[in-house]
Amino acid sequence: MNDRAALLAEIAELKTRHHAVILCHNYQPAEIFPVADYIGDSLELARKAAETDSELIVFCGVRFMAETAKLLSPRARVILPAPAAGCQMADMVSAEALRARREELGDVAAVAYVNTTAAVKAESDICCTSANAVRVVESLPPDRPVLFVPDRNLARWVAHESGRAIIPWEGFCYVHALFTVADVARARREHPGVPVACHPECPLEVLEAADHVASTGGMYRLAREHAELVLGTEVGMCDRIRFDFPENRCWPLRRTAVCRNMKLTTLELVRDALASRVEEVTVPEPVAGRARAAIERMLAAS
Ligand code: 13P
Ligand code: SF4
Repeated sequence: MNDRAALLAEIAELKTRHHAVILCHNYQPAEIFPVADYIGDSLELARKAAETDSELIVFCGVRFMAETAKLLSPRARVILPAPAAGCQMADMVSAEALRARREELGDVAAVAYVNTTAAVKAESDICCTSANAVRVVESLPPDRPVLFVPDRNLARWVAHESGRAIIPWEGFCYVHALFTVADVARARREHPGVPVACHPECPLEVLEAADHVASTGGMYRLAREHAELVLGTEVGMCDRIRFDFPENRCWPLRRTAVCRNMKLTTLELVRDALASRVEEVTVPEPVAGRARAAIERMLAAS
């Protein structure tokens, strides 16, 4: 048995021994996909965490996702194999800053993108993901202004789709904010006739130039219908599609669109997480109860 095969066998044995489930985000390094029980977008992974009766969740992704899993599966031990894997956009809003802005604005509904800390979720009325943001905002009373944190691009997309007045926070994702309409035009020249799908964290003019706007789970579903795709999102999404659809052809809108934190996970770290079961992700009360309520409202609305 070579080193990699031995590592995969060790992970499988530890997973069985500890009744663990491995949840994996679509942007994770391709070497993680074969050990995952489920690979998906933020909403799909939150739902899987809520459903599981496993005692141990090894979450291959970034911290806000592991925190969401912990909130929805409070009895399980949740481990993030790469504890330093954060999300720069989630760090662009703090609970204190959100509270202060709410006081300044008066009666607003605060909608927190799931890419936030549990403390920020606890200060919000409801959460959303890229897959359900429009539906979540449309579920709110129409006469109450919406304060949307932290992604200004997703906020603009939701305002565009729902016709609702939205006050955006000035946060952004450094991976998606850099895409331009010129990138879409170049992709169309290089790959004529191939549909372009962009993530709603991209600027509005890029989304308007694309053929589809989709969460990473939505992009995966598009790959069932289209054998060729150009994807305006993190480059790893093309590896994700090739993993299940090896015949498909997929091009990233930009090859440099890399989320460094998503790439911190390795198979060795997954093995170590299963073996040691330390570095547990915890969310203290009363933040946990209030953050969970905002996530549960989202799940009920979508
Ligand atoms: P998805 O929920 O679409 O997977 O997006 C998560 C994310 O962090 C995108 O940058
Ligand atoms: Fe955060 Fe952007 Fe990375 Fe998604 S791609 S986890 S929004 S930094």
